[in-house]
Amino acid sequence: MSNKTGGIPLVPYRERWEEGKLDYGVGVIGIGAIVSWAHLPTYEMTGLNIVAAADVDEKAREVAKKRWGIKKVFKDYRELLELEEVDLIDVAIPHRTDKNMEDRVQVTKDAADAGKHILMHKPLARTYQRAKEMVDIARQKGIKFAINQNSRWGPAHFATRNLIREGFIGKPQVVMIENISPGGWNSESMDEPTFRMLEWSIHHYDIMRWWLGKTPVRLYTTLNNHTNFTILKFDENIQASLAEITLLQGGANEHKYEFRVEGTEGVIKGRQGWHSFMKMPPDKLEVYSSHSPRQVEWLQVRLPANPIGLGGHLYGGSRYDISYPYAGFLGSMADLMQSIEQDREPICNGEDNLKTMQVMLAAYKSAKEGREVEISEIK
Ligand SMILES: NC(=O)c1ccc[n+]([C@@H]2O[C@H](COP(=O)([O-])OP(=O)(O)OC[C@H]3O[C@@H](n4cnc5c(N)ncnc54)[C@H](O)[C@@H]3O)[C@@H](O)[C@H]2O)c1
Repeated sequence: MSNKTGGIPLVPYRERWEEGKLDYGVGVIGIGAIVSWAHLPTYEMTGLNIVAAADVDEKAREVAKKRWGIKKVFKDYRELLELEEVDLIDVAIPHRTDKNMEDRVQVTKDAADAGKHILMHKPLARTYQRAKEMVDIARQKGIKFAINQNSRWGPAHFATRNLIREGFIGKPQVVMIENISPGGWNSESMDEPTFRMLEWSIHHYDIMRWWLGKTPVRLYTTLNNHTNFTILKFDENIQASLAEITLLQGGANEHKYEFRVEGTEGVIKGRQGWHSFMKMPPDKLEVYSSHSPRQVEWLQVRLPANPIGLGGHLYGGSRYDISYPYAGFLGSMADLMQSIEQDREPICNGEDNLKTMQVMLAAYKSAKEGREVEISEIK
């Protein structure tokens, strides 16, 4: 159990990245929306060593050179892989078409042959076979293969995992996640994984697995063009629900992401704030624990976005800690770097992500076939 000061749980909201090696040479492949919006701003404010970029699109290459000052920019990513100073690649080629997926597999092969480690964007693939192909290549060549499931490093999410692991709420029994987002995400097909579940729900299936340290055994999902609900059974005692709702009415300010974890000895409830431009309040986390002092009920966990007393942030706090996307994207990258330095598996490694892929694909199968699906059916 972590120490508590004045009743306030002191659990880390992230790893102590600064104590590790963060100057590995990074090559970024695919300079599109998410890289411009989140990866490169985060890397810039953290001072990471971005040595090269590649994109098939000329405008994207211009952005890499002019906005981000990356000196070595290529049309063909294979030239980037030839650079000795590139230690690892950050791949943000989309997953959305068959051609994109062929490219991702080819990049994985070429990078593995060149001995470069890989941070691959989520969702790893649209099919289990494709995902496994890449994981197998990385394993055979002995490179680190991390999946950018950045949600794990959102401050409220990360601290929740530590509260659970350190026993604040006893044995978890129930997990509930509710994500209500404004329109614009309405694109879903029952026939194959397409948009909302692949782009979004996959984070929430992944975070449940990570918090609980288990993969569900079976699930039931209903899905239409704007909403999906999933009930997941992890074992006899642990059940979870995900409500993923695209608002039909109301404005952009209605965006809300909340979660709750009930255990045998306490409860955690929290919200994730994403980004200030989404006009969402910052991350928040509260815990009720039978281990707390008797007179105290809900305790607010200190997160960088809402430091309360006791000298402010746990590790000094930085701008990138404050918003989930920045903290999340630095988390994925810093963890890959530290997995190289410490020669361990990345927290979100390919083998682990195959299980998250199974959950997401089981949810599609369940929605399509109108029945409960065993996760083991996805191979
Ligand atoms: N973790 C998250 O929160 C999060 C958020 C948004 C997007 N994503 C993921 O990031 C990925 C990229 O999404 P996006 O919205 O930035 O896509 P995008 O279409 O805006 O950008 C993709 C870029 O990749 C380039 N590209 C495509 N094929 C290439 C190739 N073979 N070689 C080099 N460059 C190539 C394109 O020209 C484009 O510039 C998606 O898989 C998406 O799911 C993750």
